[in-house]
Amino acid sequence: MDKHSPIGVFDSGLGGLSICRAILDALPQEHLFYFADTANTPYGNKSDRFLLQRTEQIVEFFVQQGCKAIVVACNTATVHSIAKLREQFKLPVIGVEPGIKPAGKATKTGKVGVLATQQTLESQSFAQLKLLECPDVDVIGQACPDFVSLVESGSFNDTKAQEAVFRYVQPLIAQQCDQIVLGCTHFSFLLEPISLLVANKANIVDTSIAVAKQLERRLRQNNLLNPEQNNPAMSFYSSGSLNDSRTALANCWPDKLNIARQLNIQ
Ligand code: SIN
Repeated sequence: MDKHSPIGVFDSGLGGLSICRAILDALPQEHLFYFADTANTPYGNKSDRFLLQRTEQIVEFFVQQGCKAIVVACNTATVHSIAKLREQFKLPVIGVEPGIKPAGKATKTGKVGVLATQQTLESQSFAQLKLLECPDVDVIGQACPDFVSLVESGSFNDTKAQEAVFRYVQPLIAQQCDQIVLGCTHFSFLLEPISLLVANKANIVDTSIAVAKQLERRLRQNNLLNPEQNNPAMSFYSSGSLNDSRTALANCWPDKLNIARQLNIQ
Protein backbone atom coordinates (compact mmCIF):
# COMPACT_ATOMS: atom_id res chain seq x y z
CA MET A 1 0.00 0.00 0.00
CA ASP A 2 1.40 3.38 -0.98
CA LYS A 3 0.30 6.86 -2.08
CA HIS A 4 -0.64 5.59 -5.53
CA SER A 5 -2.91 2.82 -4.24
CA PRO A 6 -6.66 3.07 -4.74
CA ILE A 7 -9.25 3.94 -2.09
CA GLY A 8 -11.95 1.31 -1.50
CA VAL A 9 -15.49 2.69 -1.25
CA PHE A 10 -18.57 0.53 -0.72
CA ASP A 11 -22.31 0.66 -0.15
CA SER A 12 -25.29 -1.68 -0.30
CA GLY A 13 -25.80 -0.40 -3.84
CA LEU A 14 -25.35 2.74 -5.88
CA GLY A 15 -26.04 5.31 -3.14
CA GLY A 16 -22.37 5.56 -2.17
CA LEU A 17 -21.65 6.99 -5.61
CA SER A 18 -22.83 10.31 -4.14
CA ILE A 19 -19.84 10.05 -1.79
CA CYS A 20 -17.53 9.13 -4.71
CA ARG A 21 -18.64 12.28 -6.50
CA ALA A 22 -17.68 14.43 -3.49
CA ILE A 23 -14.36 12.56 -3.09
CA LEU A 24 -13.36 13.03 -6.73
CA ASP A 25 -14.35 16.71 -6.60
CA ALA A 26 -12.04 17.18 -3.60
CA LEU A 27 -9.33 14.69 -4.61
CA PRO A 28 -9.40 14.30 -8.41
CA GLN A 29 -5.99 12.61 -8.43
CA GLU A 30 -7.24 9.60 -6.44
CA HIS A 31 -8.31 6.29 -7.95
CA LEU A 32 -11.47 4.78 -6.40
CA PHE A 33 -12.48 1.12 -6.28
CA TYR A 34 -16.23 1.11 -5.74
CA PHE A 35 -18.11 -1.99 -4.62
CA ALA A 36 -21.92 -1.93 -4.87
CA ASP A 37 -23.35 -4.87 -2.94
CA THR A 38 -26.48 -4.86 -5.08
CA ALA A 39 -27.02 -8.62 -4.63
CA ASN A 40 -27.70 -7.83 -0.95
CA THR A 41 -29.42 -4.46 -1.18
CA PRO A 42 -31.02 -3.05 0.92
CA TYR A 43 -28.85 -3.29 4.03
CA GLY A 44 -31.65 -1.60 5.97
CA ASN A 45 -33.45 -4.91 6.55
CA LYS A 46 -30.40 -7.07 7.31
CA SER A 47 -29.35 -8.40 10.71
CA ASP A 48 -26.41 -7.03 12.69
CA ARG A 49 -24.64 -10.35 12.24
CA PHE A 50 -25.03 -10.28 8.46
CA LEU A 51 -23.82 -6.68 8.23
CA LEU A 52 -20.76 -7.38 10.36
CA GLN A 53 -19.74 -10.43 8.31
CA ARG A 54 -20.48 -8.84 4.97
CA THR A 55 -18.61 -5.61 5.64
CA GLU A 56 -15.58 -7.59 6.86
CA GLN A 57 -15.58 -9.61 3.62
CA ILE A 58 -15.75 -6.46 1.52
CA VAL A 59 -12.95 -4.69 3.41
CA GLU A 60 -10.84 -7.85 3.20
CA PHE A 61 -11.31 -7.76 -0.59
CA PHE A 62 -10.19 -4.12 -0.71
CA VAL A 63 -7.15 -4.91 1.42
CA GLN A 64 -6.23 -7.73 -0.99
CA GLN A 65 -6.49 -5.23 -3.85
CA GLY A 66 -3.94 -3.06 -2.02
CA CYS A 67 -6.32 -0.22 -1.08
CA LYS A 68 -4.76 2.45 1.14
CA ALA A 69 -8.01 3.56 2.84
CA ILE A 70 -11.64 2.51 3.09
CA VAL A 71 -14.81 4.59 2.94
CA VAL A 72 -17.95 2.91 4.26
CA ALA A 73 -20.33 4.94 2.09
CA CYS A 74 -23.44 3.57 3.76
CA ASN A 75 -25.02 4.89 6.96
CA THR A 76 -26.54 1.55 7.94
CA ALA A 77 -23.23 -0.31 7.54
CA THR A 78 -21.39 2.48 9.37
CA VAL A 79 -23.57 2.33 12.48
CA HIS A 80 -23.29 -1.45 12.69
CA SER A 81 -19.74 -2.19 11.66
CA ILE A 82 -17.35 0.72 11.74
CA ALA A 83 -16.00 0.13 15.26
CA LYS A 84 -15.20 -3.51 14.48
CA LEU A 85 -13.68 -2.70 11.09
CA ARG A 86 -11.39 -0.09 12.68
CA GLU A 87 -10.31 -2.63 15.29
CA GLN A 88 -9.63 -5.30 12.74
CA PHE A 89 -7.99 -3.47 9.84
CA LYS A 90 -4.91 -1.30 10.14
CA LEU A 91 -5.73 1.32 7.54
CA PRO A 92 -7.86 4.47 7.70
CA VAL A 93 -11.56 3.54 7.72
CA ILE A 94 -13.93 6.48 7.21
CA GLY A 95 -17.67 6.18 7.76
CA VAL A 96 -20.73 8.31 7.13
CA GLU A 97 -23.19 9.60 9.69
CA PRO A 98 -26.26 11.84 9.51
CA GLY A 99 -25.26 15.52 9.72
CA ILE A 100 -27.35 16.36 12.75
CA LYS A 101 -24.61 18.51 14.28
CA PRO A 102 -24.70 21.20 11.54
CA ALA A 103 -28.51 20.84 11.37
CA GLY A 104 -28.79 21.33 15.14
CA LYS A 105 -26.69 24.49 14.94
CA ALA A 106 -28.70 25.92 12.04
CA THR A 107 -32.26 25.21 13.17
CA LYS A 108 -34.44 28.16 14.12
CA THR A 109 -37.56 26.14 14.95
CA GLY A 110 -35.61 23.72 17.20
CA LYS A 111 -36.78 20.80 15.05
CA VAL A 112 -34.57 18.70 12.82
CA GLY A 113 -35.92 15.93 10.57
CA VAL A 114 -33.71 12.95 9.71
CA LEU A 115 -34.46 10.71 6.73
CA ALA A 116 -32.76 7.34 7.15
CA THR A 117 -33.32 3.61 7.33
CA GLN A 118 -35.15 2.14 10.33
CA GLN A 119 -31.88 0.38 11.23
CA THR A 120 -29.95 3.65 11.40
CA LEU A 121 -32.66 5.43 13.38
CA GLU A 122 -32.89 2.60 15.93
CA SER A 123 -29.13 2.19 16.34
CA GLN A 124 -27.24 2.99 19.50
CA SER A 125 -24.81 5.19 17.62
CA PHE A 126 -27.65 7.38 16.34
CA ALA A 127 -28.99 7.73 19.90
CA GLN A 128 -25.48 8.71 21.06
CA LEU A 129 -25.05 11.15 18.19
CA LYS A 130 -28.30 12.91 19.13
CA LEU A 131 -27.32 13.08 22.78
CA LEU A 132 -23.84 14.32 22.08
CA GLU A 133 -24.39 16.72 19.18
CA CYS A 134 -28.00 17.84 19.52
CA PRO A 135 -29.11 17.54 23.15
CA ASP A 136 -31.39 20.60 23.05
CA VAL A 137 -33.00 20.00 19.68
CA ASP A 138 -36.02 17.92 18.82
CA VAL A 139 -34.64 15.37 16.34
CA ILE A 140 -37.45 13.63 14.46
CA GLY A 141 -36.44 10.46 12.62
CA GLN A 142 -38.36 9.37 9.54
CA ALA A 143 -37.71 5.89 8.14
CA CYS A 144 -37.97 5.80 4.34
CA PRO A 145 -38.22 2.12 3.37
CA ASP A 146 -38.91 2.79 -0.32
CA PHE A 147 -36.16 5.26 -1.07
CA VAL A 148 -33.27 2.81 -1.52
CA SER A 149 -35.15 0.59 -3.98
CA LEU A 150 -36.35 3.64 -5.93
CA VAL A 151 -32.77 4.79 -6.44
CA GLU A 152 -31.54 1.29 -7.28
CA SER A 153 -34.21 1.02 -9.98
CA GLY A 154 -33.30 4.40 -11.48
CA SER A 155 -36.41 6.26 -10.24
CA PHE A 156 -34.92 9.60 -9.24
CA ASN A 157 -37.59 12.14 -10.07
CA ASP A 158 -40.56 10.34 -11.61
CA THR A 159 -44.08 10.10 -10.19
CA LYS A 160 -43.17 7.14 -7.96
CA ALA A 161 -40.22 9.04 -6.49
CA GLN A 162 -42.27 12.22 -6.00
CA GLU A 163 -45.07 10.29 -4.24
CA ALA A 164 -42.61 8.58 -1.89
CA VAL A 165 -40.90 11.88 -1.14
CA PHE A 166 -44.26 13.44 -0.31
CA ARG A 167 -45.14 10.50 1.99
CA TYR A 168 -41.94 10.75 4.03
CA VAL A 169 -40.90 14.38 3.88
CA GLN A 170 -44.24 16.21 4.15
CA PRO A 171 -44.84 15.00 7.77
CA LEU A 172 -41.50 16.55 8.78
CA ILE A 173 -42.39 19.86 7.15
CA ALA A 174 -45.82 19.73 8.83
CA GLN A 175 -44.00 19.35 12.18
CA GLN A 176 -42.01 22.55 11.49
CA CYS A 177 -38.65 20.89 10.85
CA ASP A 178 -36.54 23.57 9.16
CA GLN A 179 -33.57 21.23 8.62
CA ILE A 180 -33.94 17.96 6.71
CA VAL A 181 -30.93 15.67 7.10
CA LEU A 182 -30.22 13.03 4.46
CA GLY A 183 -29.17 10.09 6.64
CA CYS A 184 -28.53 7.59 3.85
CA THR A 185 -26.20 8.02 0.91
CA HIS A 186 -28.86 6.84 -1.55
CA PHE A 187 -31.07 9.79 -0.70
CA SER A 188 -28.73 12.34 -2.34
CA PHE A 189 -30.02 10.99 -5.65
CA LEU A 190 -33.54 12.07 -4.65
CA LEU A 191 -32.41 15.63 -4.06
CA GLU A 192 -34.51 17.03 -6.89
CA PRO A 193 -37.96 15.88 -5.67
CA ILE A 194 -36.97 16.56 -2.03
CA SER A 195 -35.84 20.12 -2.84
CA LEU A 196 -38.97 20.72 -4.86
CA LEU A 197 -41.17 19.65 -1.96
CA VAL A 198 -39.38 21.51 0.84
CA ALA A 199 -38.87 24.63 -1.35
CA ASN A 200 -37.93 27.45 1.07
CA LYS A 201 -39.47 25.80 4.13
CA ALA A 202 -36.36 23.85 5.13
CA ASN A 203 -32.68 23.44 4.45
CA ILE A 204 -31.41 20.07 3.21
CA VAL A 205 -28.30 18.74 4.97
CA ASP A 206 -26.09 16.32 3.03
CA THR A 207 -22.77 15.17 4.50
CA SER A 208 -20.96 13.91 1.40
CA ILE A 209 -18.60 16.92 1.27
CA ALA A 210 -17.77 16.51 4.98
CA VAL A 211 -16.93 12.83 4.36
CA ALA A 212 -14.60 13.76 1.48
CA LYS A 213 -12.87 16.34 3.74
CA GLN A 214 -12.46 13.79 6.51
CA LEU A 215 -10.93 11.33 4.03
CA GLU A 216 -8.54 14.03 2.82
CA ARG A 217 -7.49 14.78 6.44
CA ARG A 218 -6.85 11.10 7.19
CA LEU A 219 -4.84 10.58 3.98
CA ARG A 220 -2.77 13.69 4.73
CA GLN A 221 -2.12 12.59 8.34
CA ASN A 222 -0.92 9.21 7.06
CA ASN A 223 1.09 10.72 4.22
CA LEU A 224 -1.05 8.83 1.72
CA LEU A 225 -2.33 11.58 -0.59
CA ASN A 226 -1.63 10.70 -4.21
CA PRO A 227 0.83 13.29 -5.59
CA GLU A 228 0.15 12.36 -9.25
CA GLN A 229 -2.21 14.31 -11.50
CA ASN A 230 -4.50 12.78 -14.12
CA ASN A 231 -5.09 9.55 -12.33
CA PRO A 232 -7.89 7.31 -13.63
CA ALA A 233 -11.16 7.98 -11.86
CA MET A 234 -13.01 4.85 -10.84
CA SER A 235 -13.32 1.09 -11.13
CA PHE A 236 -16.81 -0.19 -10.40
CA TYR A 237 -17.67 -3.65 -9.07
CA SER A 238 -21.11 -4.95 -8.26
CA SER A 239 -22.23 -8.19 -6.63
CA GLY A 240 -25.47 -8.09 -8.62
CA SER A 241 -26.20 -7.99 -12.33
CA LEU A 242 -24.76 -4.96 -14.10
CA ASN A 243 -27.67 -5.18 -16.49
CA ASP A 244 -30.18 -4.63 -13.68
CA SER A 245 -28.28 -1.52 -12.51
CA ARG A 246 -27.80 -0.09 -16.01
CA THR A 247 -30.48 2.65 -15.89
CA ALA A 248 -29.68 3.74 -12.35
CA LEU A 249 -25.93 3.67 -12.98
CA ALA A 250 -26.28 5.80 -16.11
CA ASN A 251 -28.10 8.41 -13.99
CA CYS A 252 -25.84 8.21 -10.92
CA TRP A 253 -22.57 8.04 -12.78
CA PRO A 254 -22.60 9.25 -16.37
CA ASP A 255 -18.79 9.67 -16.25
CA LYS A 256 -16.21 7.24 -17.53
CA LEU A 257 -15.63 4.04 -15.52
CA ASN A 258 -12.26 2.30 -15.84
CA ILE A 259 -13.82 -1.05 -15.21
CA ALA A 260 -17.43 -2.11 -14.61
CA ARG A 261 -17.62 -5.72 -13.57
CA GLN A 262 -19.88 -8.11 -11.73
CA LEU A 263 -17.97 -9.60 -8.85
CA ASN A 264 -19.21 -11.85 -6.12
CA ILE A 265 -17.08 -11.31 -3.02
CA GLN A 266 -17.33 -14.43 -0.82
C1 SIN B 1 -29.77 0.44 2.73
O1 SIN B 1 -29.08 -0.28 2.01
O2 SIN B 1 -30.83 -0.01 3.23
C2 SIN B 1 -29.43 1.86 3.04
C3 SIN B 1 -28.03 2.19 3.02
C4 SIN B 1 -27.69 3.38 3.92
O3 SIN B 1 -28.15 3.45 5.04
O4 SIN B 1 -26.89 4.25 3.50
